[in-house]
Amino acid sequence: MGKIRVYKLAEDLGLESSEVIDILNELGEEVSSHMSTVEDETADLVAEMVNEEAAEDTKTESGDDVIELETSLTVKELAEEMGEEPNSLMQELVGLGIMATINQELDEETIETVLAEYGYEVEFKTEEEEEGTSYNELVQDIDDDPEDIEERAPVVTVMGHVDHGKTTLLDAIRETNVTESEAGGITQHIGAYQVDVDGEKITFLDTPGHEAFTSLRARGAQVTDVAILIIAADDGVMPQTVEAINHAKAADVPIIVAINKVDKHNAQPERVKQELTEYELVPEEWGGNTICVPISALQKQNIDELLEMVILVSEMEELKANHDRPANGVVVEAELDKGRGPVATVLIKNGTLKIGDPIVAGLSYGTVKALVNDQGERVKKAGPAMPVGVLGFNSVPQSGDLLQVLEDEREVRKLAERRQDEKRQEDLSQKKTVTLDDLYDQI
Ligand code: GTP
Ligand code: MG
Repeated sequence: MGKIRVYKLAEDLGLESSEVIDILNELGEEVSSHMSTVEDETADLVAEMVNEEAAEDTKTESGDDVIELETSLTVKELAEEMGEEPNSLMQELVGLGIMATINQELDEETIETVLAEYGYEVEFKTEEEEEGTSYNELVQDIDDDPEDIEERAPVVTVMGHVDHGKTTLLDAIRETNVTESEAGGITQHIGAYQVDVDGEKITFLDTPGHEAFTSLRARGAQVTDVAILIIAADDGVMPQTVEAINHAKAADVPIIVAINKVDKHNAQPERVKQELTEYELVPEEWGGNTICVPISALQKQNIDELLEMVILVSEMEELKANHDRPANGVVVEAELDKGRGPVATVLIKNGTLKIGDPIVAGLSYGTVKALVNDQGERVKKAGPAMPVGVLGFNSVPQSGDLLQVLEDEREVRKLAERRQDEKRQEDLSQKKTVTLDDLYDQI
């Protein structure tokens, strides 16, 4: 007999994972996470229980059914929630004297009225439940035409303490060898690249573990859908590990723990798990919901298992973006190339960046002259979640700067110049104390 993950079972049954967990607990199964697995037999049992309950519900249908909704929904969203065709809902609205288009937002009162017609009672979700804007929610604009919204690759950031193996892990994934070419083996800045794992694209960001790079790690967390927290099993939870946990939590990003260097004779993976519990990360096998995968980045052990978890977690996030709008993105690294001038590696968050687009990022502006993908090949455009080298800036932007595309060259210059003025004023007004962090940031 096989096994099935709780969230998959929930999906099959059209339930929330938490509801399935409740039922499993009733059955005496000790599960607490949507990522836990249960035997197929148990899954069948759950399905039976759910069906019986559903049958009873229809038998005893007397009062109104209660439906829980956001306080503001479009006609299309409401129809989806109700399991009705948008067209029939629109007709119903016309009957009530409301001429609404499919993407029109409906207010609370209208939602209540129309649902009453269908025999439902509404309970609006409180603000708290709606809160928590992830990167995925941020990139989806209410003005977007739903037809332009497409799936996009997850952006995964590898975070962890200095020397715990971030770059080695990314190498193992890319099966190339960046570490050896780096000066002293220490990553000086974020790298970004996209890989293909069994036909699924995943964008990876590397972050440096060195203490001076706090701000870079914080930015990494902000553009991330999933964080891989790497911890060396011979060293355990260290200061930058804790910092990474805090960044990921603040950005509301799911964490997958990779316990690295398990090939070492002094590796203590169990101790790492113990230490993690102090930061509210309780491993699945201990009844919590933190996925922990023991790996050896150096010997390429268990990397597939880790990637599988990344894909599973990403799939649950239903990552989308609008490909058909002017791009915006984040500068992850930038340098002055002797031959090519300023080159910025930009992670496109939303939209599509094209050659000729007028761009501004921080104090720098220009027109996209060329785009280079992570393989060093020239490309004509770059869509959501794609890391791309951008040529055409008049100066080197800072990592963390947001890239915007505006109407024309005049607009981007105006914005950049205004920012430069503001910065000059600021620098003058406060005698600027330069920290080590600032110096590193300028490298
Ligand atoms: P920074 O970018 O400087 O923060 O370091 P990092 O986290 O990227 O670590 P890096 O990948 O550079 O690895 C640091 C050292 O640990 C290198 O010497 C690697 O060869 C070694 N290392 C990485 N992973 C493993 C592993 O799984 N097993 C063993 N034995 N050594 C590893
Ligand atoms: Mg590194």
